[in-house]
Amino acid sequence: MSNPKADSPAADENEVRLRPHPETASVVIFGASGDLTARKLLPALFDLWSDGYLSDQSPIIGVARREKTDESFRQEIYTAMNGQFRGGPISPEKWEQFSQRLFYRQLDIAIPDGYYAFKQELESIENRQGTGHNRIVYMATSPDLFLPAIEHLGFAKMIPDRDATEWLRVVFEKPFGHDLASAQELSGNLRRLLREQQIYRIDHYLGKETVQNILLFRFGNSIFEPLLNRNHVDHIQITVSESQGLERGRGGYYDNSGALRDVLQNHVLQLLCLIAMEPPALFNSNDLHEEKLKVLKAINAGNSGEITDWVVAGQYSAGTVDGKPAISYLSEERIPADSRTETFVAMKVKVDNWRWAGVPFYLRTGKRLPSRVSEIAIQFKHPPLNLFNTVECDGDICALVGAQPNKLVFRIQPSESIKLSFSTKRPGMQYQIHPVTMDFDYKTFTQPLPEAYERLLLDVLRGDSTLFMRSDELEAAWQFVTPILNFWSQKKTVPEPYRSGSWGPRAADDLLRSDGRQWRSPAQ
Ligand code: BG6
Repeated sequence: MSNPKADSPAADENEVRLRPHPETASVVIFGASGDLTARKLLPALFDLWSDGYLSDQSPIIGVARREKTDESFRQEIYTAMNGQFRGGPISPEKWEQFSQRLFYRQLDIAIPDGYYAFKQELESIENRQGTGHNRIVYMATSPDLFLPAIEHLGFAKMIPDRDATEWLRVVFEKPFGHDLASAQELSGNLRRLLREQQIYRIDHYLGKETVQNILLFRFGNSIFEPLLNRNHVDHIQITVSESQGLERGRGGYYDNSGALRDVLQNHVLQLLCLIAMEPPALFNSNDLHEEKLKVLKAINAGNSGEITDWVVAGQYSAGTVDGKPAISYLSEERIPADSRTETFVAMKVKVDNWRWAGVPFYLRTGKRLPSRVSEIAIQFKHPPLNLFNTVECDGDICALVGAQPNKLVFRIQPSESIKLSFSTKRPGMQYQIHPVTMDFDYKTFTQPLPEAYERLLLDVLRGDSTLFMRSDELEAAWQFVTPILNFWSQKKTVPEPYRSGSWGPRAADDLLRSDGRQWRSPAQ
């Protein structure tokens, strides 16, 4: 079946005016036997195809070491993803149409031997499909294969010259580096083989609709932006909490990583950049990256002094989450009994620039917390005078309370929303304060929110790297977290245990308490 939307020049007139149209290309997935391919990449490609963004001529070629036929690969993907993609179960007819573009080729990615034969097979698929030789290679492999795979592609002459008409774009899954030195080394080595414009470093948070909405909310309105600075904001809290522990099979990766590398270095710092950055001159990839980079430089300049004064590490012990018993981190599969890996990190960050000097940003992320919530909460300053108050009672104990500070909360997931809280007069004969909230939620829109990977893969097809991390940005993020990692490793820091199902270790509360503040409970 042909896909009229993808073949026609415009899937959506308005969108095309803003963003280039996706190009026809082969999508090659290295590491296709992994979980990511079936759970995220193929469902995203299926949705792109259903939405008319992936041309019928674009083949998808899974590549991995195991032996499989095209048919067994198709069957495996169908079983794994059926029910996981956006609109519920896939009809057999639709799957039949889609799966015609799915192929599998066996290759040991680590060694150069098979690449030349692979190139020929790929070309023959492309010739049959009439695709041309534009290619996306998605590196869904372990990071130690990133460089060898690109070197082998180079030897097999699969990296087009700068002036060639066909193109190659390579998407790298995280982790891209393990610390500053390894990220710089990897970027430096890749730079010998690929141009920066060919490299797409994924941070899937940037593909989330609600994360992109932060920019639109800030720079598409005029009434909020004048308030987002040190004159009006008391502090900002960014939370990425998860109720789940380690997913099956992730123990080996996670124990070498920990919460700081796994989530804070990328997702949390990206959220920080988006909420703290200055408006870009133009809404384009380069200007956005420049502004985000300035924020990362400002936090590098701002956070000095004893690391223990502003960073807290925790590790979950046994407890109860969502009413179910949860085992400790140390009892998880493939976790050494004496592991010092942190499953929780909280910190107080200073963004040392003209706009934010003196405004603390409190960041926290962790596993086995009470709920899965990602949000940015901006708390404004108290009104300068307490002209109004009200009586609030807790049992028999009553107190006079004044106006609560205004809050602006971006809820990234779940129950995506933007909420502004403020005080009103409680109806009656007295001037009594009543806090209320003004809500925007996505129920306003009828169409489902696109999945992060769908949006990001579309951008790779469009050649738009706005929502990917540039190398200097990534290195600035590593530069910020590396001294913390080094300090923990040198001091053999043992993370403070916290009960599964609690909001992290006590030291995380103390971090805010010593500033006269407290973490918000994300249910608020
Ligand atoms: C990934 C981390 O990058 O993000 C995982 O490796 C984490 O450990 C996940 O669970 C969280 O993403 P999301 O989209 O579920 O909030």
